[in-house]
Amino acid sequence: MGLPGSNSGAILSKIATNNQHGENSEYFEGWKAYDKDPFHLSHNPHGIIQMGLAENQLCLDLIKDWIKENPEASICTLEGVHQFSDIANFQDYHGLKKFREAIAHFMGKARGGRVTFDPERVVMSGGATGANETIMFCLADPGDVFLIPSPYYAAFDRDLRWRTGVEIIPVPCSSSNNFRLTVEAVGWAYKKAQESNKKVKGLILTNPSNPLGTMLDKDTLKDLVRFVTKKNIHLVVDEIYAATVFSGDNFVSVAEVVNDVDISEVNVDLIHIVYSLSKDMGLPGFRVGIVYSYNDSVVSCARKMSSFGLVSSQTQLMLASMLSDERFVENFLMENSKRLGIRHEVFTTGLKKADITCLTSSGGLFVWMDLRHLLRDRNSFESEIELWRIIIHKVKLNVSPGSSFHCTEPGWFRVCFANMDDDTLRVALRRIQDFVSKNNNNKIVEKATDKDQVIQNNNAKKQKWRQSNLRLSFRRLYEDGLSSPGIMSPHSPLLRA
Ligand SMILES: Cc1ncc(COP(=O)(O)O)c(C=O)c1O
Repeated sequence: MGLPGSNSGAILSKIATNNQHGENSEYFEGWKAYDKDPFHLSHNPHGIIQMGLAENQLCLDLIKDWIKENPEASICTLEGVHQFSDIANFQDYHGLKKFREAIAHFMGKARGGRVTFDPERVVMSGGATGANETIMFCLADPGDVFLIPSPYYAAFDRDLRWRTGVEIIPVPCSSSNNFRLTVEAVGWAYKKAQESNKKVKGLILTNPSNPLGTMLDKDTLKDLVRFVTKKNIHLVVDEIYAATVFSGDNFVSVAEVVNDVDISEVNVDLIHIVYSLSKDMGLPGFRVGIVYSYNDSVVSCARKMSSFGLVSSQTQLMLASMLSDERFVENFLMENSKRLGIRHEVFTTGLKKADITCLTSSGGLFVWMDLRHLLRDRNSFESEIELWRIIIHKVKLNVSPGSSFHCTEPGWFRVCFANMDDDTLRVALRRIQDFVSKNNNNKIVEKATDKDQVIQNNNAKKQKWRQSNLRLSFRRLYEDGLSSPGIMSPHSPLLRA
């Protein structure tokens, strides 16, 4: 809705109103509900708990300690103010040299120290959001296509398409093989795009995956590098969760694979990495995004573009100092992984108590929760949305339905677990357990009535009364959930997803 007196249709440009912002999904309803009634342990204990936000709040204490111990790293302290004029004036789009060096070094550390990055290839942007758009701008013309394995990060619909005119063709992955991406599936989508006369410019991967939390193995990555080289299309890997890994094998960066694959099988000019400190350091508000390309022309073009989304020089200065502190970085990465692992374990164990399983994962700030058994109709997305509304309005948890990530199977939900304290997590788990047990009670009564015909006959009247009441209560739950207002949220969930 526009401001009073405005007529956005007539005033705004075609590109601004082209609907490619991806914000017209039902997804907003949960955020509106959360905004209206946010949970607080003491002030609003019956409010909605935010589980739709992929934010890492588990290690902010370590960063705060470092800031206290290093006051000279900021220009707004007694110890750092002598640098104020130089830093406040600095606006070179290359960025501070020591910032680029520190970021390149940190990117290597975040990938287990198995790869190195060249500071001359580090280009700044406003978060990974800006980095993803920049890379699209550099590589594709309006109407060109990028293939993306689905389910995929919901905000890609906006970030990759809106201002660039790029189109997305999903590479559908399914539960039949635990949503694993195969080179065959990519080949199938590539062929399909070509058959419909689309020009495929590249493939985008998120590794580790948002929303799945899974990681690509080295062999698959190698196959994909060979595939793009053979087809002469680009490979962009969004590695924003590179160090947000808590179990299983090591995360394998495409940077490692580039070194591993036979030189005749890889054209490095086609390989690009997107990174950010939003997840691995838990600093989404700092808006530190990175385009790292092996292609000189892309580095040069992206650098010019970076004028639109520079990281503030104050932030650069502080991070240059923090990320060059070897002891701090090593301890932070280790502790972050440990705390994420514990949190993930507590959360998934709690879900198991409610007979809820999740896709096995080893990274990310969320789980991919399987609620297919709770759908009224297992094959319908309407049922998914129906259940989702109950979860928001009755269970009072804002989780994200799989359909908003373009999942092709109804019944999957992304649930974030690192954006809250332990007590809030306990409340969330209790709410889920109570909801499922109520739901199960209804089913048990129905089963018992099916099985025991004799008892049912003997207690026909009594049973009928109980059954209709329980069914009614569950149906009511559905109907109440469905009747909630579907007005759009003024705040974009995608901005904070
Ligand atoms: C895969 C992926 N890419 C990009 C982003 C945007 O990150 P940033 O806050 O750095 O813009 C997110 C945030 O959730 C994400 O999950």
